[in-house]
Amino acid sequence: MKVLVVGRGGREHALCDKIGSSPLVSEVYVAPGNPGMSGVAKLVPLNERDQEELVNFAQGQDIDLVVVGPEQPLLDGLVDRLQEGGIRVFGPSKEAAKIEGSKAFAKDLMTRHGIPTAHYGVFHDYNQAKQYLDQCPIPIVIKADGLAAGKGVVVAQTRSEAEEALEVMLLEEKFGKASQQVVIEEFLEGEEFSLMALVHDDLVIPLEVVQDHKRAYDGNQGPNTGGMGAYSPVPQIGSGIVDEAMTTILQPTVQALKTMGRPFTGVLYAGLILTSEGPKVIEFNARFGDPETQVLLPRLESDLIEIILALLAGKKPELTWNEQAVVGVVVASQGYPEINVPGTLLPKFQNQDYVRIYYSGVAEHDEGQLVSTGGRVFLVGGMGKTLQQAQERAYGFLVQHSLEGLFYRKDIAGHVMERAVSK
Ligand code: AMP
Ligand code: GLY
Repeated sequence: MKVLVVGRGGREHALCDKIGSSPLVSEVYVAPGNPGMSGVAKLVPLNERDQEELVNFAQGQDIDLVVVGPEQPLLDGLVDRLQEGGIRVFGPSKEAAKIEGSKAFAKDLMTRHGIPTAHYGVFHDYNQAKQYLDQCPIPIVIKADGLAAGKGVVVAQTRSEAEEALEVMLLEEKFGKASQQVVIEEFLEGEEFSLMALVHDDLVIPLEVVQDHKRAYDGNQGPNTGGMGAYSPVPQIGSGIVDEAMTTILQPTVQALKTMGRPFTGVLYAGLILTSEGPKVIEFNARFGDPETQVLLPRLESDLIEIILALLAGKKPELTWNEQAVVGVVVASQGYPEINVPGTLLPKFQNQDYVRIYYSGVAEHDEGQLVSTGGRVFLVGGMGKTLQQAQERAYGFLVQHSLEGLFYRKDIAGHVMERAVSK
């Protein structure tokens, strides 16, 4: 089979790597990819949003399957366009992807179907939003309705911080159209975790649990980001909780989308908080998580392509997981997520026995070197028999390299072991 992956980040690097390991696959293409992943896929210089070109490429190259990584092309309707062109795709239609594209839509769906989530209000108007806010206890969470690359959420610890977030989103329209509408949401206390499921029609197959670290700095300080590191397995979330989340959240959400005429195919990602009343939803995504995918796929023994083909044929796939723990540490440009500072030169790091490197914000430099382009630059995934060993391997790799102009959190998976990595 020839498989095309759409996207350019670490998630797509991990997907290409895993897909290429399938005996069913003869060629992996990635559009546009990045030069850090040229060892695992052929880079196709087409933008994720250029639907015509992508359809033409897939038809011209006889692509057997397309896997779409990021949310924007899903919300643009890339899956619909590819299907119209007769191409098999794993990903949701534009209509189904709205579960990620509008937080107000997702909240409304959950309320109508009794799916546990935080209390909330939705507002266009600043004055009405402010009035509602005045009634709410602090902390409180303010979210831009639309896509904002994980950065449109403010967990306000003070009333003035919350008011400022409303001003910035509704009056200054910091995220453009995406913040013309906001969700004001109850702050939920508890352990946060990501539960993704592979979905097609009525089949909802959970992946293993991952924990992401959304804040930029150690100790969960600083602004929200797209994710600064992740690990799996997550021992504090047992299988009973996963079963409960499947029954109360993922399955009913898939059914709700179906009854609304928006049947979902692809990866449904639930961002959950384990409250004293059980798991509750803080967000849905319509795709694989980044960096969750980079720590999950090295744990998946089964052939991802076989799994996807079975699902698309309406058959329940069996997933087997290896005994490895994986800790993934994101290395980002100084200033991320607020400002973009490109320009750090990097070697093309090679994978080692228990260390995987997945690139995101890099471009080609002279002599085969890479140069950072800003944002999240790469992820180092340490693997081991235990989370502690995996963590030591990830940080053991990082301390050997000078990474001027870049930074990473020193506490990914830290609190599980209740020990800080001080180096
Ligand atoms: P989101 O993009 O909606 O997942 O929000 C980004 C991050 O903000 C989440 O990963 C949580 O850490 C935090 N967050 C979002 N909503 C809530 C909430 N209702 N209560 C507590 N924390 C939240
Ligand atoms: N890591 C969070 C996300 O993929 O949205």
